[in-house]
Amino acid sequence: MDGNGRWAAARGLPRVAGHRAGAQAVRRTIEAALQHGVQWLTLYAFSSENWRRPEGEITDLTGLLRHYLRNEVTELAANGVRLRVIGERRRFAADIQAAFVDAERLTAGNARLNVTVALSYGGRSEIVAAARRVAEAALAGTLDPAALDEAGFAEKLFTAGTPDPDLILRTSGERRLSNFLLWQAAYAELVFLDVLWPDFGAQHFAEALADYARRERRFGARPV
Ligand code: IPE
Ligand code: MG
Repeated sequence: MDGNGRWAAARGLPRVAGHRAGAQAVRRTIEAALQHGVQWLTLYAFSSENWRRPEGEITDLTGLLRHYLRNEVTELAANGVRLRVIGERRRFAADIQAAFVDAERLTAGNARLNVTVALSYGGRSEIVAAARRVAEAALAGTLDPAALDEAGFAEKLFTAGTPDPDLILRTSGERRLSNFLLWQAAYAELVFLDVLWPDFGAQHFAEALADYARRERRFGARPV
């Protein structure tokens, strides 16, 4: 979800106005996913690298996150959304960490749409954390290194139990993954949109799905 700052700058507004408008785009996107019957949606809201931003912007972003968790979760739960948070959760303030737990608990019984929010998330550090868990299990004698396969490794990632993404969509005209779901993205179809995230809406969502539907996915196999 990229382009909040540029959206605000284009209007002579502070960056936080872009982040607020970005939160509205999150609402629209979840609605669109529900409407299209998409069952898994992962939102890259804050990367491990985003901690390098100025303190004021971090405060604005964590403030918005706090607000969102307080005010939106009940409605998400009512709409059949199950919420999960992946990333270095411990880097957030204690009350936000508690709100993650509450939101996950409150929505744990839902299955219509699984929304995963990636917060303080980085694909490489996720892979390193998984490797560490594998090494620990091997040292403890509960895992035979020779028996480790891709499925077994994937179970050590934050996304254990979540299917790999079929489609990854990035807004704002940048054409890179920026450390998002590096392991899981192995065969994802990539869609890059020139629209800034706060302008993203149901129409863009539908167009991305239509684009995806036109792709031929072979997973390395021969064309038939
Ligand atoms: C995305 O918008 C929001 C976050 C990364 C939290 P940006 O803040 O990256 O907006 P640009 O890229 O400066 O336009
Ligand atoms: Mg950006």
